[in-house]
Amino acid sequence: MTPQTPRHIAIVMDGNGRWATRRYMPRIAGHWQGVEALRRTVRACTDRGVSALTVFAFSSENWSRPQDEVSGLMKLLAETLTREVPGLDKNGVRIVFAGDRGGLSERVLQGLTRAEQTTASNTKLTLTVAFNYGGRWDMVNACRQLVSNGMSADQISEAALAAVSALAHVGDPDLIIRTGGEQRLSNFLLWHAAYAELFFTDRLWPEFDASDLDAAITAFAGRERRFGGVGVLANDRTSQGSEPVARAA
Ligand code: IPE
Ligand code: IPE
Ligand code: MG
Repeated sequence: MTPQTPRHIAIVMDGNGRWATRRYMPRIAGHWQGVEALRRTVRACTDRGVSALTVFAFSSENWSRPQDEVSGLMKLLAETLTREVPGLDKNGVRIVFAGDRGGLSERVLQGLTRAEQTTASNTKLTLTVAFNYGGRWDMVNACRQLVSNGMSADQISEAALAAVSALAHVGDPDLIIRTGGEQRLSNFLLWHAAYAELFFTDRLWPEFDASDLDAAITAFAGRERRFGGVGVLANDRTSQGSEPVARAA
C-alpha cells in the first residue's frame, strides 16, 4: 500500500441490468455477472493493501423492482454466500453485513449470519456488504439505538452516532466509486460520505476490473483532501519557500 492508497473504498455496484439488457439477456443475468466483478475487486483490493471494501448490493428502495428480480437477487445472495465464503475465509476476508435485517427471509438471514461468524477473526480485508441498506435507514436506526441505550439529548454527539452506525466497524470510506454512469449516491452512506472522495465511471459493474480500480485509486491519489481546512496547495508557497532562507540568515 502506497501512502496514496485509500484505506477504505466503497462502491455503488451499478449497471448490472443494462449490461444484461444490451446482451438481450434477463436483468438477473447481469447481477450474476456482477458477482464475478466483485470477486475480481476483492482480490485486487487485497493485492493493493486496501483494508476495507464496502459494496452496495441492495438498497432500501430496490424492493420496488419487479418481484422476480427481487427474489432473484435474494437467491443470488444466498447461493453466492454458500459458494464464496470458504474461499474468502481462506484469503483472510472478514464479511460483515450492513442493513436492515427485518424483511429478509430465514434462508438469507441464516446465510449472512453464518458468513459473518465463519469469517469473524479474519483481518486482511473487511468486506462489508450493504444489503437492504439505506443511508437514511442507517441514521434512523442509529438514533433509535442511542435512545434505547438511554442516552440523553446532551450526550448525543457525532462520535456517539457514528459508533452505532452500520459502518462503526470500519469507519468512513476514503473513496466512493460508482459504476454505471449515474452521478448520485442513491441513499448509500449518507453519514459516512461526508468527506469521501467521489469517483464516477461509465463502466458497467459486470465489466469492472483491476484496471478500473487502479484508475479510481490514481484519481484519488491526485486529490487534495482538505477536510474544511486550507490544505497544502492553498498555502502561500512563496512564503513557505522563503522560510529556510530566512531561518539560515
Ligand atoms: C445495480 O445494478 C445492482 C442493484 C441495484 C441490485 P442495476 O440493477 O441497478 O443495473 P441498472 O442500473 O439497471 O443497469
Ligand atoms: C443503487 O443503484 C443501489 C445499488 C447499486 C445496490 P440503483 O440502480 O438502485 O440506483 P438508482 O435507482 O439509479 O438511483
Ligand atoms: Mg441501477
